[in-house]
Formats: sequence, C-alpha cells, structure tokens
Amino acid sequence: MRRPLKTPGIVLILLLVLACSETPEPQAPAQPDREWWKEAIIYQLYPRSFKDTDGDGVGDLKGIIQELDYLQELGITAVWLNPIYASPNADNGYDVSDYRAIMSEFGTMEDFDRMLEGMHQRGIRLIMDIVVNHSSEEHPWFVASRSSRDNPYRDYYHWWPAEKGKPPYRYSLFDAAGDAWKYDSLTDAYYLHYFSSQQPDLKWENPKVRQEVYDIMRFWAEKGVDGFRLDAFQFAAKDTTYPEFPEGFEKDFIQYYAMQDGLHEYLKEMNREVLAPYQVMSVSEGAGRNFEDAHMLVDADREELDMAYAFDGVDIPKYGGYELDTMKSVFGRWDAQFAEKGWLSIFLSNHDQARMVSRWGNDSPEFRRASASLLNTFILTMRGTPYCYYGDELGMTNIDFDSISDYQDIAALNGYQKALSEGADMEAFMQQLNFSSRDNGRTPMQWTSGPQAGFTEGQPWLPVNANKDRINVAMQENDPESVLNHFKRLTRLRRENPALIYGDYALLDAGHPKIYAYTRTLGDERILVLLNFSAEVADFTLPSGMDQGEVLITNVSPVPVGMLPDTLLPWQAVVARLP
Ligand code: GLC
Repeated sequence: MRRPLKTPGIVLILLLVLACSETPEPQAPAQPDREWWKEAIIYQLYPRSFKDTDGDGVGDLKGIIQELDYLQELGITAVWLNPIYASPNADNGYDVSDYRAIMSEFGTMEDFDRMLEGMHQRGIRLIMDIVVNHSSEEHPWFVASRSSRDNPYRDYYHWWPAEKGKPPYRYSLFDAAGDAWKYDSLTDAYYLHYFSSQQPDLKWENPKVRQEVYDIMRFWAEKGVDGFRLDAFQFAAKDTTYPEFPEGFEKDFIQYYAMQDGLHEYLKEMNREVLAPYQVMSVSEGAGRNFEDAHMLVDADREELDMAYAFDGVDIPKYGGYELDTMKSVFGRWDAQFAEKGWLSIFLSNHDQARMVSRWGNDSPEFRRASASLLNTFILTMRGTPYCYYGDELGMTNIDFDSISDYQDIAALNGYQKALSEGADMEAFMQQLNFSSRDNGRTPMQWTSGPQAGFTEGQPWLPVNANKDRINVAMQENDPESVLNHFKRLTRLRRENPALIYGDYALLDAGHPKIYAYTRTLGDERILVLLNFSAEVADFTLPSGMDQGEVLITNVSPVPVGMLPDTLLPWQAVVARLP
C-alpha cells in the first residue's frame, strides 16, 4: 500500500519542529482537531472537459497528467475527480458498469496510477467520487438481477412484482415521465431508479451489497487515494415495504428520500470497514433534511463522515437574480450551526450547476473579471473547506445554448420531454434551461484562444464557449490582474493564514443591501473581508477600530494602503488584516 502523504505522527512532529526552526510556521489554531481536509483547498475536476490528449474530443487522464503543474501552481491542495470508472455514460460517468476499471475514453489503470503518483509528488491529494446509490443498468450485477427472479443478484436492487399491481408512486429526478419505477417485462416486475432508468438503485438493505461497496472502496484506498465523495448517498437507505407517500410529496421529495432509517448504520459500518482503517476523508453529497441530519452525518464523535456538503447555498440564485440578504442569512446560519461541531464544504458551483459567475456574479464584459474574483474571494475566505470548480479560476461563463438539440445532459433532455408532455410553457422552460442547465458548467476548459481552446485537436464532446478568445489560461497567466492570478494569490493567502481556515466568522453590517462584510478571528489574528456584491459603487461604515488595517488582497487596483476604504468599487473585494 502506498501512502505518501500520510506521515506517521512522530515523524510529522519532528518535521514540524525542524520546519519551525527555519521559517515561522503559521500560528497553530486553538482547535485541537486540525485535519488536512479542513485545511485543504479542493479543486473539483470534471475529467470529461479538462484536457484531451488523444483527439477524441473527450478529456482524459493523460490530459490531467499533462496539467499537474498547472494544478500545483494554482495552489490547490486536493482534487475531487468526478467519476472515471467504466460507464456507458448515460449520465457522464454517474452510471458505473465496472467500479474497478477506468472508462476507456479516459485511459487506463496505468494512467490512473501515474496521475495519482504525480499528484502526490506535488502535495496534491485525490478524492474519488463513489457512485453507489445506484449503478448502471449495464453493470453485471444488474444484468444478473434482471435476468430472473431467483438469480442470486436479484436482491441487489429494488424490485416490485407486477402481480401486486402498480407500485406506490416514486418520483424520479431524471425520468422523462417523472416515474422512478420502470416496468421490465423480462421478469414482469418494476425496478426502482431515483435518477434515470439507466441508473437502477442498489439495495443497501442487503448486507451483500454493502460488502461489495466496501471492497470497491478498499480497492481504491489500497491504491492510495485520500478521500471519497459519496454521490447521492443521502438517498441510499429505503423503506423496502415501499409505503404510499402523500400526494404531491415530490415537491418536497428530500423529506421522503433523504436520510431514511438505516442510513446512519450503513455509514457507521462503512466507517469501521473502510474510512477509519485507511484514514481516508469522506464527504457526502447532500446534508439531509435539516441541520440535525447534517450533524448526524459529520459530528466527529459519531464516527460516520467528515464533512457535510449542503445545497442550501447553491439553491439561492434564481433566474432573474437573488437577494444578498438571503445569501448572508443562509451562509451565516450554516456557519453558526457548525461553529462548535462538524465541518462544512464551501462552494458556489459544481458540475450540477451553471457557471458561478453567470449565476452569482455578473458575466458582462465590464464586470466579469471583478465579480468572478470577488466570488473566489468569498469561497476562499469563509469557514469550511473551499471547493473550487474547474474553470472558475478563470471566470468561465455560461455558454448560452438556444436550442434543445445543443444540450447533452440527460437531466436537460429528459426534463424537456417531461415539460413537453405536461404542456408546460416551453419558452419559459428554455429560458430557465439556458440559465441553469448543468451543461453550462461542463464546457471544455479554456486553455488558449486557439482552435477548441487548446482542449482537444478533435471535435469536443460539448462545444467550447466562444468567449475562449478573451477568457483562457494562456492570456490570464500573463496578466497580473486576471481572475487566474487573483485566484493564485487567494489560495496562498488562505494557506498562510490559519485564521481563514479555523477563525470564527462574524457578519458585519448585516442589513447592507450591497456589501457582504465579515471578520475571521483566531486568537489575536483578525481578518476583515469586504465584498461589494453589486455593479455600483457602495459606501459603508466600518465599526470603530476596524478602519485601519493592512490590505492583504484586492481584486480592483489600486490597492488602498493604511486607512481601509469606506467605499467599494463595483464588485470590489478587499481582504485586510486588522491590528
Ligand atoms: C449526483 C451527481 C450528479 C448525478 C446524480 C446521479 O447528484 O452530482 O451529477 O447526475 O448524482 O448520479
């Protein structure tokens, strides 16, 4: 087993002592529970769209290997890789047909080993996406399961025999008819799929399924991966009597699907079997129905998972805008709930969202640069582990598709069919899709202004955004004022200032309609963050004692010195150390 980043405690202490004698280490936090995953800056990498080296238009592992130095220069310290397992790609890898094989379009296991080694050599840890609420319908387990009612794998999935009539309605997130039960004539029965019908749900109530999953996780842990992100895991436990749910439950389906009985036992078992013995970090997608659920997932003494990944934040921006007030109160509430116990993920985008700057900022040529930098400032100065989605370090924007034939995402295509069959207002539907579709956030990485943005020499699987001529790595690397260079300054600032990691968060001037201001305090260290979430100049008054400080970073030149500003330019972000 290769564990290059897991130095034994005593060696670590010696190394720390040696390091301290040369350069001063950042001040240790008051908390006794320092963890690498709390101090990590995670880069979420969507491999399909990152870099293609074989000209098939699909990103691959060799492409990631080629860009490892780029990742290191960003100053990120961990990568969360979206699924890279063998898959028929009904849902871009979230439908796995072999959990121990690499998707052929992405490369080979040898590529994987080289990639992991290259990451570890650069001090970057790897978090793998584990997709086990469901498998692909092409997974051998499912092929066997559906082949006959008495097949040994039958009970790996949820089946309802048709002689019992139609099963109680279950809502499906991706199904074109919204129905999570699919009739299968082969054995005259229905199977359950919370996502698309190509993604049958695994039956976690079956202990054999659980052992299979732990074996898979051990396989990757043995290879030396450092963490797991559990896809859609809050839905894994189900009441296998399949009771009727009240009419209209689908409007609030999380209440019925998330954190059902059994889930915590499964997680405790997973922790005992894999997470604890291999010392891998874990984060679940979704944090349940409420704060209590979230705590039950991640409070350290419960020995389940490490980090909560809650959606309330990313659910805020709507077509037509959002209120800063809502943002402050949602992020503030989550922070307060986790101030003493548990640990949060901080993110404004991911592969299931449209682009951050188009949803939260202002992607017009005038304000794109400043607003993208401001949003990165927010993510990298809040309490919780920051998750930075590929391309957001450049301020990549939505792509603006206008016809349904442009879209690739199963959620968009099936959602369109569903809306059509329900007689929905299709113009409004398309507008909404244009703003929020997941394809917006999946367009190829913009490396250069050259053909296909330097992503591929072939035909990219999803079009490259036309704005690659203005927004790309090559240009931004040479521009000190770019979103990219600002991002690099921010990662460094966070790494060097424990107050930004462990410091208490306190909101200032809560009612200000344009400015989001807060402090992060750890012992004597006090850092002030001022963010103007608007396209207008905004004034404010700092509490007494906070008007002097050392500006550490700003996204709009010139950098103020001495007195802190009482006016912020449009989308200006200032981070300062208070005396
Ligand atoms: C999660 C993933 C999403 C996927 C779904 C089904 O929500 O983030 O991309 O489509 O699960 O696996």
